Amino acid sequence: QTVRDLFVQRKVMLNGVALSDGRGRITEFCRVEVDGNILQARKAIYVMLHKPKGCVSATSDAKNKTVLDFIDFPEKESLHLAGRLDFNTTGLLLLTNDGKWSRKLTQPQQKIPKTYWVKTQNEITLEYVKKFADGFYFQFEDLTTLPAELTIMSSHTALLTIYEGRYHQIKRMFGFFQNEVLELHRVSMGNISLDENIAAGEYRVLTAAEIVSV
Ligand code: URA
Repeated sequence: QTVRDLFVQRKVMLNGVALSDGRGRITEFCRVEVDGNILQARKAIYVMLHKPKGCVSATSDAKNKTVLDFIDFPEKESLHLAGRLDFNTTGLLLLTNDGKWSRKLTQPQQKIPKTYWVKTQNEITLEYVKKFADGFYFQFEDLTTLPAELTIMSSHTALLTIYEGRYHQIKRMFGFFQNEVLELHRVSMGNISLDENIAAGEYRVLTAAEIVSV
């Protein structure tokens, strides 16, 4: 029998509903059955982890703890990271098995705002605000960073929003002032904010509203 026959006999099911032709859009996470056999039934998973200090943003590592070590459900091996944080940076880290979704958060062209709480060795003065807005020249990449928004919270703390993610970007920005970053904590990525009820090392799945906000 032909594929057309399978449609006519209502044997091709998309998410539990019979398809009458092959024009319906079948994507990675649809459940597809043909004549009672499951062809695919992958479930999309989206997780926010409150990354603690002292682990690498990778799914495997020869010597260090990874962020996956903090997650314990069976499908966790299918997850990848939607953006990374340095070893001792804490805060919002997103994991998923949906590559299309994570690309929307991580592709440089998307210019997704990422907000961090920063604590520094030396005082953060008003002149910093203009410099962050003007950009920093990074010699290694031969580029100037996009305008970033610095809000001074106290003498040694600030909130910083950047729209890209260069290697050790924030530490290098403060390095321009010879001001060492002592604590770095990601508060949000795009419309998704770290849930304050999640302690460091804990995680939860995203809500439907958070998933569609990307
Ligand atoms: N900038 C840094 O320097 N480190 C991070 O983890 C994130 C941004």
